Amino acid sequence: MGPAYRLFYREPVHLVRGEGVRLYDADGREYLDCYNNVASVGHCHPHVVEALSRQAGTLNTHTRYLHESIVRYAERLGGTLPGDLSVCMFVCTGTEANDLAFRIARTVTGNDGAIVTDHAYHGNSLAVTELSTAEYPESEQPDYLETIEAPNGYRGTFRYSEPEYGRKYADLAEDAVRQLAGRGKQPALFMSCNIFSSNGILTPPPEYLQGVYRAVRAAGGLAVADEVQSGLCRLGDKLWGFEDSGVIPDIVTLGKPIGDGHPLAAVVTTAAIAKEFARKFDYFNTFGGNPVSAAVGLAVLEVIEQENILQNVHDVGEYLRQGLEKLAQQHALIGDVRGKGLFYGVELVTDRETGEPARNQADSIREYLREHGVLLSTTGPLGNVLKIRPPMVFSKNNADELLGKLDRALRSTGR
Ligand SMILES: Cc1ncc(COP(=O)(O)O)c(C=O)c1O
Repeated sequence: MGPAYRLFYREPVHLVRGEGVRLYDADGREYLDCYNNVASVGHCHPHVVEALSRQAGTLNTHTRYLHESIVRYAERLGGTLPGDLSVCMFVCTGTEANDLAFRIARTVTGNDGAIVTDHAYHGNSLAVTELSTAEYPESEQPDYLETIEAPNGYRGTFRYSEPEYGRKYADLAEDAVRQLAGRGKQPALFMSCNIFSSNGILTPPPEYLQGVYRAVRAAGGLAVADEVQSGLCRLGDKLWGFEDSGVIPDIVTLGKPIGDGHPLAAVVTTAAIAKEFARKFDYFNTFGGNPVSAAVGLAVLEVIEQENILQNVHDVGEYLRQGLEKLAQQHALIGDVRGKGLFYGVELVTDRETGEPARNQADSIREYLREHGVLLSTTGPLGNVLKIRPPMVFSKNNADELLGKLDRALRSTGR
């Protein structure tokens, strides 16, 4: 395997089995999974495994033949999205979904510019890596790209305490449009992850996306919601993250959680946009939308409904948030708790006044928790934010286990 691969943890974990929110390593040690959103409705969910096995044992081909389940899945998935967002194109990864969204946006608008936030991550193809500003130095950015500061009310230019801080961040999109225009370019799209995962997990007020979408559309661009992280109930109030902001994007990209571990991803857009793209291009994706993937996607949506996953994310998420805020009152190391549903960032600082990032302590806590049977990670541009994003079947008991061990881990840093 290539040396560009990276393993988690100083002592890498060798997992051999998963069930619900639990993972088991080769020595039989049990872990509480507080990190993996790909196993959205739990590791190896029996309903999903059954649907996958049944279809894998019957037929697997591709979208050049008729098959009921791909149409049923497209209808079902399209039906979960608001407005005219109803036409699906299936791919295998979030990267491919964002790559296709970028192609569609360029084709339909005739523009080639793009606006994203700083320290963004949208995937790993050549084009999408260029949109992933977390992945390479600013000096190497292509000239079609403009970056706007992510709406970090804790340590960014505009803070929570400032009136209309969300709108002030949104106004940066107008500056970006002007910068592009100065280089003779117009935006094809604005793309954002709606929980700003790689920025350390941010939940700006609705004015933010509303303002940015307005500015980008006024310049002829499309609004693209990357729901790879924030989608499918994750934020606890609505099925899709952008819905919290009361906006309807032109294109939505979906990945990780819609397949509960199976490589399934999608672009969903309006009939008008899909038709315009199809005027110029055919589209074929060998594995995207195959009958096994469609069976899996349908099974995941069935579990979401049958097990009332959205309500669980809302209720357990609220309970977890309160627990994290209580820990923040007890530990000066915690500078900020943010996020919603079952996706939280706990930002650690050595000094609450100066906000000095506590990266080493974040690393130590991650390692301590791994040794004590809890898996989570660290994120953010400064690497000092604990990232908590468990499978959505997480219970209040699981939250208690996490909170108890996190409390001990925080104490172990001696601060
Ligand atoms: C917000 C976001 N978009 C896109 C991707 C890319 O998805 P994939 O790894 O399936 O290509 C990721 C992956 O982490 C992501 O976090």
